[in-house]
Formats: sequence, C-alpha cells, structure tokens
Amino acid sequence: MKFTVEHTPATIVKVYPKSSDLFKKYRIDFCCGGNRPLKESFTEKDLDESEVLGELNASYEEWSKEDHDVIDWDAKSLSELIDHIRYTYHAPLMEELPALGQFVTKVYSRHGGTHPELKELYRIYNDFKVEMEEHTIKEENEVFPLIKEYEVNPGEELLERIRVANGGLADEHNGVGDMLKEMRKITGDFIPPVDACGSYRITYARLAELEEDTFQHIHLENNILFAKL
Ligand SMILES: [Fe+2]
Ligand SMILES: [Fe+2]
Repeated sequence: MKFTVEHTPATIVKVYPKSSDLFKKYRIDFCCGGNRPLKESFTEKDLDESEVLGELNASYEEWSKEDHDVIDWDAKSLSELIDHIRYTYHAPLMEELPALGQFVTKVYSRHGGTHPELKELYRIYNDFKVEMEEHTIKEENEVFPLIKEYEVNPGEELLERIRVANGGLADEHNGVGDMLKEMRKITGDFIPPVDACGSYRITYARLAELEEDTFQHIHLENNILFAKL
C-alpha cells in the first residue's frame, strides 16, 4: 500500500501508528483535525508534497518489513475500546499530570529568571492539567457509561444524548490539542537548553511523552470511538 495526498492523517495513523512521528515533525494534526486529506495540510503549511509523501512511504515500507501487532480498533467493540482508553491512557494520565506538574513548577521557580518561557509553560501546563483532569472525569463518569449502555441497549434517544456529549468533548480535544502545540512551540520542540539541569531535561522529556500519549489518546476517541457512533 502507498499513501497519497488523498489519504487523511487519521486513516494513516490507524494503519501505520508510527507515522505520528512524521506528522509531529511537520506539524500535521492527526488527532483533532485529522480527517482532512493530506493535500490540505500540505497547501496550508506550504510543504513539499513529494518530499513528505516520499519520506512517509519510505518509512512505512521499512516499518512493514518488521513484525508489528497493530490492533484494528475499528473492528473491536465500543466497550473494548473504552476499556483500552481507560487503562492505557486515562489511569496513567491522572497520575502523570500532578507528578509532572511538580517538575514544571520546580523548573520554573529555579530557572524562570533566566528562561522567561518557563513562566508561560507553567501557566499553559496548569491550564492543560485542569482541563484534562475535568475532561477525563467527565468521560469516565458521564459519557463512557452512556456509550456502554448504548451498546447493550441501543436507542435513538440515548444516541442523541451521546452525540451531544461527544460534541462537547471534541471541542475540548481541540482546546487541549492547541495547548500542547503551544507548549511545543515555546519550548522549542521540547529541546532543553544545553546548560539544562537534570530536572529541566526530565521535564521536557516527560512533556514530549505527554504530547505523544495525548495525541494517540485523542485520536482513538475522535477518529474511532466517536466516529463509530
Ligand atoms: Fe479520554
Ligand atoms: Fe477525550
């Protein structure tokens, strides 16, 4: 299989999960605005179509030669996908947000004087943390149970309630996605300064990991779970 400009990033990530690295590199959104064909992002970002596609297809070819277990979430039940999201993303996220928050605060208080971007990072991170915690609690306590109920007892009225709730969640995904983009921008792609101390390096590495996990997490919710409904 070869990817073309007509493919959407959301479809590509489903087939080839590691393509998310390339999308991040070129700032192509695959989780929130992932349902537009690649050609739109290429035009918008003034990217060289043949260069990026060439890189994508070459890395995909290499990757396909290796042995990978890619789960086809489209073929799984809604409950299985919800359980996967909860255990793989929600539970670790709820632990990581406060833990990483302590690092962000520590680095800001120690190095904010010489690195003013750390103050901005501190503010955005804390907004992101509150948003993401509230959002996750809403999914766990309100929306996911409705979806599970729908799977056992499907009905138009219930589906409508879920659709309305999902609309709100999708807007929140856009909001937190923008915050992650902003954090990537102000930290210069999460690359610490050469003289950075250990905590500084750990903070940036964990922020990069948080970004990766959140994009994959939102991709599953927007492009598979909500899309199925
Ligand atoms: Fe979630
Ligand atoms: Fe979500």
